[in-house]
Amino acid sequence: MKIGNTNLKHGLILAPMAGVSDYTMRTLCHGFGCEMSVTEMLSAKAIHFGDEKTETLAKFDESCTPCAIQIFGHEPDIMAESAKKLADKFSPVAIDINMGCPVKKITSNGEGSSLMRSPGLASEIVKAVCSATDIPVTVKIRAGWDEQSKNAVDFALLMEKSGASAIAVHGRTKSQMYTPGTVDLDIIKNVKNALSVPVIGNGDIYTAEDALRMYEYTGCDGVMPARGVYGNPWIFKEILCALEGNEYTPPTLFERIDMAKKYLYMMIADKGEYTGIREARTQLAWFIKGLRGAAASRVEINRAETFTEVCEILNKIADNNVDIAEGL
Ligand SMILES: Cc1cc2nc3c(=O)[nH]c(=O)nc-3n(C[C@H](O)[C@H](O)[C@H](O)COP(=O)(O)O)c2cc1C
Repeated sequence: MKIGNTNLKHGLILAPMAGVSDYTMRTLCHGFGCEMSVTEMLSAKAIHFGDEKTETLAKFDESCTPCAIQIFGHEPDIMAESAKKLADKFSPVAIDINMGCPVKKITSNGEGSSLMRSPGLASEIVKAVCSATDIPVTVKIRAGWDEQSKNAVDFALLMEKSGASAIAVHGRTKSQMYTPGTVDLDIIKNVKNALSVPVIGNGDIYTAEDALRMYEYTGCDGVMPARGVYGNPWIFKEILCALEGNEYTPPTLFERIDMAKKYLYMMIADKGEYTGIREARTQLAWFIKGLRGAAASRVEINRAETFTEVCEILNKIADNNVDIAEGL
């Protein structure tokens, strides 16, 4: 599939995730075959007001390119202005518009998934953003607002008509939030059959098998793992191996521990030791999930203040699991 002139061989895309798809996680995923990543969602209003902290969420470099920057908001002029500002400053591969966020703070402002109930406004936003920038504009939507209003097909068609270059479909309604096992592959398939621009399937991709099912059942052009990357940037390699007929060897215990250290090291390099450690804690817990003693180590990691302390805790959990290392 193509986003503008950028060719993505398999359309393997890291989903936007607030607090997760930061610079470090995007970089790790690109290292394992992720072909494009999307930043955490940035408030268009905050960009409009020149909020520097929001802008730091857009950071990327050659280690995590191509990268799309996602924005959210409900005012076409502010969305257009912030898109232009971000496009000029960072040169992302695309500006992605969030029309799927179910969080009340967002939907109560008429933003995120709430836009699926206001197709006219959503169309105006896409048109305004498209005219403000000369880079591709993509849109991430849900199946619909609730079971009674699954309008993804008509909505996606309107977004395409308004200028969107690709549409990512999270196959749950807003009402379904993130409930596991509720992704509707049929609606993704129907969107794919209706549109001419690339369609990216999203929801419940935790293994290569899930990704293959998404491609095969829906005919989608790309897949977008989200929570499947928690502590597992290797998921892209696993999917890539399955697509190219190569055998996939999961990471060993020591590779997992090393990756946790590398992740922390990169977070600290990016954000400083104080913030880096605090923001890394959740992800570190995912890297050690399932290991013997993980719960106790998590508590210790949450108290640790330095890189060295965390590394010692990680070494200890590795030592405590050596006997099961082969079975991981
Ligand atoms: C912690 C978290 C943060 C998320 N943040 C965003 C976001 O900023 N923008 C967005 O479009 N979707 C966001 N999502 C939704 C994901 O991109 C994805 O659509 C959803 O998790 C479904 O995929 P999954 O079932 O594979 O997790 C977020 C999801 C999670 C769990």
